[in-house]
Amino acid sequence: MFGTQIVNNEGHLMIGGCDTVDLANEFGTPLYIYDTALIKEKIEEFKAAFSRHKEIDWQIAYASKAFSTLAMVQLIDEAGLALDVVSGGELYTALHAGMPASRIHFHGNNKSDSELRLALDAAVGAIVVDNFYELDRLNQLCAERRQSMDILLRVTPGVEAHTHEFIMTGHDDTKFGFNLDNGMAEQAIRLALESSYLILKGLHCHIGSQIFETEGFAEAIRTIYKYLDRWSAQLGFSPRILNVGGGFGIHYTELDHPLPIADYIDTIVATVREECDNRALPLPAIWVEPGRSLVGEAGTTLYTAGATKEIPGTRTYLSVDGGMADNIRPSLYQADYQAICASRANLPADKILAIAGKCCETGDILIKQAHLPAGCTSGDILAVLSTGAYGYSMASHYNRLPAPAVVFVEDGDASLVVRRETYADIIRLDVPLQVKTHNDN
Ligand SMILES: Cc1ncc(COP(=O)(O)O)c(C=O)c1O
Repeated sequence: MFGTQIVNNEGHLMIGGCDTVDLANEFGTPLYIYDTALIKEKIEEFKAAFSRHKEIDWQIAYASKAFSTLAMVQLIDEAGLALDVVSGGELYTALHAGMPASRIHFHGNNKSDSELRLALDAAVGAIVVDNFYELDRLNQLCAERRQSMDILLRVTPGVEAHTHEFIMTGHDDTKFGFNLDNGMAEQAIRLALESSYLILKGLHCHIGSQIFETEGFAEAIRTIYKYLDRWSAQLGFSPRILNVGGGFGIHYTELDHPLPIADYIDTIVATVREECDNRALPLPAIWVEPGRSLVGEAGTTLYTAGATKEIPGTRTYLSVDGGMADNIRPSLYQADYQAICASRANLPADKILAIAGKCCETGDILIKQAHLPAGCTSGDILAVLSTGAYGYSMASHYNRLPAPAVVFVEDGDASLVVRRETYADIIRLDVPLQVKTHNDN
């Protein structure tokens, strides 16, 4: 939902063939809407990028942490993609949505025994093992059950990529994965190869998020292959799968200039091929785990504007009926967004307003400098764009605000895929104190 906006005769913003003001009236606000045609377009872009490389086996696994609901998983399943889950809850959602377990892989830096058991019961396609504790626990659980499990080892190649730059940190100070430089990864490979139950299929790395350059991916792959010189010679290990994670950048504002997906995939495939050719190693299957690049731009949050506060010469605040409880990203890491006045989308955006959330936190500001029409005020519907990733999935109940509803829109049809929470939902898990009866006698 970025680029040219479609506006109808009433001056209302249209998404997926639906009038956003009508959606706000029908489903209430705050409301998450997803343009599912756009998600499918992004999926096809990934598939087309890989299909050009006939010699490569590949897998696209949607990183469901970006936005996980039954309907979303069903959409991914129908598109034939795989799924990356990072918790028992995401796995449970995936299984309930009917996602074949064989197409699920399970991430996480502190999977509990019960989460590992859930994954083993379901016989997921692979577990991405993050640390020695997990390697040991998983090995023991598999031994107890006499069950084998395909695993990848998450390694940290010392490459950190963010937006337009990547840096070689040499050694990574991160809670995730086995470091390459200090021998952890080699030790993990040795242990995995010794196991009778764990089948070491390959390696995984994830170098960052919102990445707008390709070289960080190439550098991470080259770094891993440098170590593979020794591991293939001494341990006879060469990965059958190389999972390079996600992180492909998207449009949040006009300052973002994402690359075509094919640019990333071409670089990844070319680098893997070159590294393998140089060492006469077999080409691994290449896996990627896009999250935000599949759903980010497809999501829009609708809010109703309420109170205004003008501080002459300083700023005008326009408060909306949601905020950090439904989108923590601006307050958590100063994420930037753009907004449109959906109910006056035909008017020029000639005024700068601060869009404030309704939570009791000074920092609950969704957009510090939103360009909106001068007349945009209380009662208008605001659309914050590109909120599809890590918005709803990071929502909280702060201030006991009920979580918004989520609607999928396509071809003029809107379907509710998550209903709005009610106040009754908010207290449904609370256990009241038992009233003590005092006997004064
Ligand atoms: C291991 C892993 N894979 C994939 C992703 C998805 O990243 P993105 O949504 O930026 O594509 C993440 C995000 O944190 C991740 O940690």
